[in-house]
Amino acid sequence: MTSTVNKVIKVIDNIINYITYAHNHLLSVIIFYFLKQKPFHVHLPSPTNGYHPAVLITGTSSGIGLDTTLTLVKQGYKVFAAVRKEEDAKKLYAIFKELINPKQGNLIPIVMDVTNKQEIQSACTFIRNNLRRETPLIGLINNAALSINLPIEVASEDAFIDSFNTNYFGLVNVTKKFLPLLREGHGRVINIGSIDSWNAPPTMGINSSTKAAIRTMTKIWRMETRTMGIHFSLIEPCAISTKRSERKTNDFRNFKSFSSTSPYYYDEDNDNNISPNTLFNYSNLYKSVGENFGKFEISMPTEIVTDAITHALTSPYPMDTYYVGLDSKMIAALSWILGDRLIEAIESKIFCNV
Ligand SMILES: NC(=O)c1ccc[n+]([C@@H]2O[C@H](COP(=O)([O-])OP(=O)(O)OC[C@H]3O[C@@H](n4cnc5c(N)ncnc54)[C@H](OP(=O)(O)O)[C@@H]3O)[C@@H](O)[C@H]2O)c1
Ligand SMILES: *[C@@H]1O[C@H](CO)[C@@H](O)[C@H](O)[C@H]1NC(C)=O
Ligand SMILES: *[C@@H]1O[C@H](CO)[C@@H](O)[C@H](O)[C@H]1NC(C)=O
Ligand SMILES: *[C@@H]1O[C@H](CO)[C@@H](O)[C@H](O)[C@H]1NC(C)=O
Repeated sequence: MTSTVNKVIKVIDNIINYITYAHNHLLSVIIFYFLKQKPFHVHLPSPTNGYHPAVLITGTSSGIGLDTTLTLVKQGYKVFAAVRKEEDAKKLYAIFKELINPKQGNLIPIVMDVTNKQEIQSACTFIRNNLRRETPLIGLINNAALSINLPIEVASEDAFIDSFNTNYFGLVNVTKKFLPLLREGHGRVINIGSIDSWNAPPTMGINSSTKAAIRTMTKIWRMETRTMGIHFSLIEPCAISTKRSERKTNDFRNFKSFSSTSPYYYDEDNDNNISPNTLFNYSNLYKSVGENFGKFEISMPTEIVTDAITHALTSPYPMDTYYVGLDSKMIAALSWILGDRLIEAIESKIFCNV
């Protein structure tokens, strides 16, 4: 039953994708004729025998990052796949060894925590030394992210700092470091945001605000580098079923992160500001969001995000923003049509029963 529903949703979603791609294409032509603005980004050839353009992807130990890595390798790209842990680098290499690799792509795992400046520097030096004329750096995919779900008042300072360091400052630092190489390769930057940046249920505030910051930053950075042959795209997926997101949702339902055992829960010893009554009310809110979350969200497979990333990387007319998945498109459209007042009233009904 759900699989049929998912299939139908996927078909409708795909049809809308084609319409928006065509619309984007047409708009590019109109802008070219009427505003005399030529597209400065460069459309590079696909990988061929002897030409294996390079791409760097962050956060490739699992989920969307891993799926995109393997897909691009199979298409013949040389993928520098960044992970945080040495053991994940080994695991990636083992997966690559087993992979059917018709177009002779390559996978080179590298250890790079996006919040570690030294590791970013070493990765940059390593990649620079590994690029050749037939393997220019044509893409940076900023995918690594940390997601913490807690009501804003009870989230510790570390919850905010770690989220913004990973999702926002890490992304900025990595991008700055690799822009010179991307300029040489006429590359593209693809930032993975989230539809949560437009509308998300209560308790997802920290998570969502990092993604909102990424959205605004991507727009401005795109304009600033317009004439440099670089293009910035933003990918805003709906709920995607990755192993980790399932685990996360389970934590939520079983009420795990809302407890003093979570490092991101507020620090009782240093803060007596929150009354037990308030905490009690937040825990009820957290519980009800957890219970209702699963009912209303249809998780889509990672490949729909990978498809959007591939389009952003290879299309002659990459989109500025990709709303990936039908939920994502609906949330984006409805927030605009209905406005905050109505959307929030509906969300409160659905998620908090109030
Ligand atoms: N799944 C969804 O429903 C969904 C929806 C919208 C947007 N997104 C976005 O899609 C992207 C991928 O999400 P996913 O679902 O595939 O999640 P995931 O499986 O949790 O992957 C996140 C990746 O980021 C890595 N990471 C975390 N902190 C890092 C750091 N400081 N430095 C380097 N890497 C770090 C993780 O590495 P470790 O293994 O070392 O922790 C992991 O490889 C994220 O940007 C997420 O916000 C996902
Ligand atoms: C980003 O780079 C700045 C400047 O080099 C540094 O001070 C900061 O700690 C870095 N942030 C993260 C999250 O790595
Ligand atoms: C937190 O946000 C990230 C990206 O915005 C998303 O991957 C994750 O699913 C969110 N967490 C939950 C439980 O929605
Ligand atoms: C918590 O909720 C109860 C009713 O559910 C209410 O009586 C009480 O005033 C609330 N406490 C706080 C601190 O908001």
